[in-house]
Amino acid sequence: MSERTFYVTTPIYYVNDVPHLGHAYTTILADTLARFKRFTGHRVFFLTGTDEHGNKIAQAAAKAGEAPQAYADRISAVFRDTWQALNITHNTFIRTTDPSHQRLVQDLLQRIYDRGDIYLGEYGGKYCFGCERFYTERELEDGKCPDHQVEPTFIKEQNYFFRMSKYQERLVKHLEEKPDFIRPERYRNEVLAFLREPLEDLCISRPVSRLSWGIPLPFDANYVTYVWFDALINYLSGLGYPDSEDSSTFWPAANHLIAKDIVKPHGIYWPTMLWAAEIPLYRHLHVHGYWKVEWGKMSKSLGNVIRPLDLTQKYGRDTLRYFLLREMVFGLDASFSEEALISRLNSDLANDLGNLVSRVLAMIEKYLGGRIPQRSNPESPDDQGLVRITEVIRASLSRAMDDLAFNRALESLWELVSAANKYIDTSKPWELSKKDTQALERVLYHAWEILRIIGLLLSPFLPDTGQAITEQLGIDAHVEQPRIEQAAWGEGPTSGKIRKGPPLFPRIEGGFAAIRGQEEDQPAMPEISLAEFQRLDLRVGEILIVEPIAGSKNLLKLTVRVGTEDRTLVAGLQGQYNADALIGKKVAVVANLAPAKLMGVESRGMVLAAEDAEGRIVLLSPDRDIPPGSKIS
Ligand code: MSP
Repeated sequence: MSERTFYVTTPIYYVNDVPHLGHAYTTILADTLARFKRFTGHRVFFLTGTDEHGNKIAQAAAKAGEAPQAYADRISAVFRDTWQALNITHNTFIRTTDPSHQRLVQDLLQRIYDRGDIYLGEYGGKYCFGCERFYTERELEDGKCPDHQVEPTFIKEQNYFFRMSKYQERLVKHLEEKPDFIRPERYRNEVLAFLREPLEDLCISRPVSRLSWGIPLPFDANYVTYVWFDALINYLSGLGYPDSEDSSTFWPAANHLIAKDIVKPHGIYWPTMLWAAEIPLYRHLHVHGYWKVEWGKMSKSLGNVIRPLDLTQKYGRDTLRYFLLREMVFGLDASFSEEALISRLNSDLANDLGNLVSRVLAMIEKYLGGRIPQRSNPESPDDQGLVRITEVIRASLSRAMDDLAFNRALESLWELVSAANKYIDTSKPWELSKKDTQALERVLYHAWEILRIIGLLLSPFLPDTGQAITEQLGIDAHVEQPRIEQAAWGEGPTSGKIRKGPPLFPRIEGGFAAIRGQEEDQPAMPEISLAEFQRLDLRVGEILIVEPIAGSKNLLKLTVRVGTEDRTLVAGLQGQYNADALIGKKVAVVANLAPAKLMGVESRGMVLAAEDAEGRIVLLSPDRDIPPGSKIS
């Protein structure tokens, strides 16, 4: 096996949901790594795909009113289309319903069975149908499954077991001898901690009477395979194992990328399965943290799931890639917010990089009529400094990528961007243009050349941007795979014309507030004058009577005293406050709002309230007592 091969995988994603930010993150990481390895001359195989068997999927299909296969076909296609839209360059997209995958799963099960590592046994335990697995008491939270928050059901039945316990010591030894088998260290420690307790055998079958959506056990048609025993094997079947050239080239040089949620199956089940099947172990397991939303959990039930395509449509796919790669430290959790993304877009992408490209090209257009500057040797200390820093950064980029420190890699690239901006500020081509055309040519050459190198070095991370810079510089689009060796000083062409294009990253003027303003439910609020404000008649009102409104889930009919007048107001407070808490309460009222009929009740005015992102409504009340009718201004 040659040193220069690299095999990278993502988890295969369950098709019970369409892709969200977390799935996109792992896939973008794997893509960046694959592109970087190709950039540094490796032969790369990049595998992703979908995990389609098991209860989770059968239930989701039933809910959608579809047959499991038709449902899996549909959602799997959404994953494939999403990866295409995100510019992902996988070699193969594996599906666990592919016949070749199913065949390999059965072959390996048979092989392990024949070797005596699978046996039939009886087992009674607490089973969560949602997770499709048994739980030990220790794993339950308050007696409930931590994922589904339901009490598991006690079941006792015959099942097939994989003799995982047999490999416990060997696995501990492997982890001790190969400290980089699982990275970062905290996850290696997590696996070692599991292994300090006795390892139990793994139940790898499910009776067809309970679950039929799976791969049948080759030695007993009354059972299907447990979904993890099926899914993990994708890393081999995706290569065409055992007969393909790819499998002899790329196995076992595998780098599995996953998040911290699935360390146990990858760190314990998978290596022991491989041993049992007499297949060499994968090379590395790389574990990253979780994307949170505003530091909270991202989940469907909270309604805060971020869809990657929504973001790429708004901000472009390289912006999303940049943000995700730049913002997360590999191994740790990070917090996503659109506000932070826009701030990165405006400062790093539009300001630093975008401006650099447009100012250099504008000067080449202005002073050289768009001609690519002639190659010249570095002369001034500034020229020499620029050449030196390019070399330093190229090396630190490779080091950062060896450590999977994507954020550090981009940080170093941005050091190069700011060095280039500084070079132009101090060399002042606009002054040279008036007195020294030779020096002007040299400075513009250096500026052009540093942009060429930046474009190349950026290409694994932000492929569209790397390509756009290269094209705007007047270099023919990458016909071949870009290579890191080309990112050396003086390697660029010296004839032709630049092709200045539109700005690479238009700024979001007004930042996050402006984007929020554009969204339909939050219309932008133009400024108003004091006179306009004074047209509002705001008063303190006192709630006297609270009544429900027939047929309405959220409206209440209030009788509110405003001055000497009692008037009827309709407010969306049902379910937010008890009637008791409202009666006698002083509130702020818009007294001169034109009357409106809501659910058959005429409302004369409006009660002021604030609403948070979860839809919780809070009334605005005076903080000291004041008679109803008092004016608010
Ligand atoms: N089907 C299994 C994996 C089988 S691999 C042989 C599975 N699928 S999943 O759809 O739940 O995907 C889990 C993976 O999605 C995580 O390991 C991670 O790669 C990604 N992420 C899901 N949510 C995430 C975050 N909130 N943040 C970062 N990545 C996350 O488990």
